[in-house]
Amino acid sequence: MTLDFPERTAELKRRISEEIQANGPVSFARFMKRALYEPGLGYYMSQRPVTSRRGDFLTAPETHPAFGALLADGAREYAEDLNVPEFTVVEQGSGSGALARSFVERWSQTAQRPLRYVMVDFHPPGMPAPAGVTIGTALSLDEVVPFEGLFLSNELPDAFPVHRVRRRGAAIVEVYVDLHDGDFIEIESVPSSPELEKWLGTAGIVLADGAEIEVNLQVEPWMRRIWEHLARGRVITIDYGFESDRVSRFPRGTLLAHYRHTTNEDYLQRVGEQDLTAHVCWTALEEIARRTGLRIVERVTQREYLSRLGWKEWGMRLLRTPFVTEAELESFDRLGSLAEGMGGNGVLVLDK
Ligand SMILES: C[S@@+](CC[C@H](N)C(=O)[O-])C[C@H]1O[C@@H](n2cnc3c(N)ncnc32)[C@H](O)[C@@H]1O
Repeated sequence: MTLDFPERTAELKRRISEEIQANGPVSFARFMKRALYEPGLGYYMSQRPVTSRRGDFLTAPETHPAFGALLADGAREYAEDLNVPEFTVVEQGSGSGALARSFVERWSQTAQRPLRYVMVDFHPPGMPAPAGVTIGTALSLDEVVPFEGLFLSNELPDAFPVHRVRRRGAAIVEVYVDLHDGDFIEIESVPSSPELEKWLGTAGIVLADGAEIEVNLQVEPWMRRIWEHLARGRVITIDYGFESDRVSRFPRGTLLAHYRHTTNEDYLQRVGEQDLTAHVCWTALEEIARRTGLRIVERVTQREYLSRLGWKEWGMRLLRTPFVTEAELESFDRLGSLAEGMGGNGVLVLDK
């Protein structure tokens, strides 16, 4: 079925309402899952260029190709250490393919070792492969055979559906979505699963009375699947996040909706038409990685990571380039601001 907005939104709203009428209020995670991933209707299922200037928000690889190129430089060095005949990169949540394009281009210009680059997303784009590079696509990690190399993602776990919990006195309550006069409303009730409080323990999160935080129960199964698919190699997760001891900075949680380059907190509006995203909790991610058996190499800010890979030198070269356009300099600068963005942009590096 192909529908345009606002018909898509109306259809999605109708389906979620039907579920609530039949079974009662749904957890916010269930609502978010359908809003983002309902087949044919969800925000990420629409094939619109959401991570672009024409879309709702810009990501680092969409901002300037230096991001993907610098990551390729880092991966090239790592590939020498790993020393496999063909280095494999699996990028999950590859979106428009912007990171893949700049990564692959840089690799083909600078590396001798053959590269296989696999984009995993719901609508991975086709793309020509330069000499020495094989490009693959998959709709799910399940289609990827165990590989040696690098598992890469940019802004992926922040797009996983999250539960929302609040402290009310001594109790933890969960936020659900209900219906009132045909509109979605939020209500509080007892947590849908004991896993939510357990997760707060894993993350080491202590909520103040009245404070809210998101619980991302998808991270654990995701890490397990990475473990199963990565025979040997490195996992690089780039995202914005917070550490559990900083949770008091977000008394209303970190959830945000993105719509046409603005942010809002009307999470129940524009269903399927706006992005919903929550910061990842680095403390939980690291604890879950450890439990899964992955070794933590480091977690650094994106700015530090890119600097190490030659960010400044790239900028200097750009300034010396004859006829460099204002637009290119501006995009490069914007990538710098994104790397620093929200103070929490991080790079988590794990090894297996
Ligand atoms: C915030 S966007 C980031 C896109 C891209 N990495 C970038 O930086 O421009 C999140 C992406 O993750 C994808 N995604 C979410 N869950 C996924 C899953 N389980 N498997 C593959 N892709 C997923 C979405 O479709 C979307 O393209």
